[in-house]
Amino acid sequence: MPASPIAVMASGKGSNLGAILAAIEAGACPAEVRLALSDRADAGALEIARKAGVPEVVHLNPRDYESRERFDMACAERIEQAGCEWIVLAGYMRILSEAFVRRFAGRIINIHPALLPAFPGAHAVRDALEYGVTITGVTVHLVNEVLDGGPILAQAAVPVREDDTEATLHARIHEAEHRLYPETLARMIREGFVVEGRRVRWKGR
Ligand code: GRF
Repeated sequence: MPASPIAVMASGKGSNLGAILAAIEAGACPAEVRLALSDRADAGALEIARKAGVPEVVHLNPRDYESRERFDMACAERIEQAGCEWIVLAGYMRILSEAFVRRFAGRIINIHPALLPAFPGAHAVRDALEYGVTITGVTVHLVNEVLDGGPILAQAAVPVREDDTEATLHARIHEAEHRLYPETLARMIREGFVVEGRRVRWKGR
């Protein structure tokens, strides 16, 4: 099967990008990262992408644009020029404008460090720990106009230990993410899915 061209958008360390690149390299995910795009010059993700030989590694500074919409439009142009079919958010810390989400409707995915709809937002690991849940986890979902609210593609549970700190819990969540994200991406590309209401139905090929 031909590799599906994807763009990865990331603001941070980039360990999920690293896991996706490793799965591709190992032949476990029929994708090709054509573009790695970050809103932060110091994102570790950019370095990981460069080292892996991603053909386009791009930093765009939001401060150079007069609005969020304009910034997102510049990102969208780079993604389209690179011919990417999927947009994979991997620790991308900016909320996407509605115009961007509409432009790529059904083709943007995100990974969230909690079992949605529990604990949406930027502090999911801390929020889950403070709430006292004994099981949290990871969600891969489609991105729509509601923050962390799109249809769910896959989830994995991660038990919370009594002595967990935010750091130890996030480390185990990261391990689960590194398995689930490449696996879900591979399934999307190989199998395909349709969305019925909020539910994702895999095509089973
Ligand atoms: C992950 O925990 C992901 O769930 C969240 O941001 C974090 C990114 O980590 N959206 P990394 O930059 O991929 O290491």
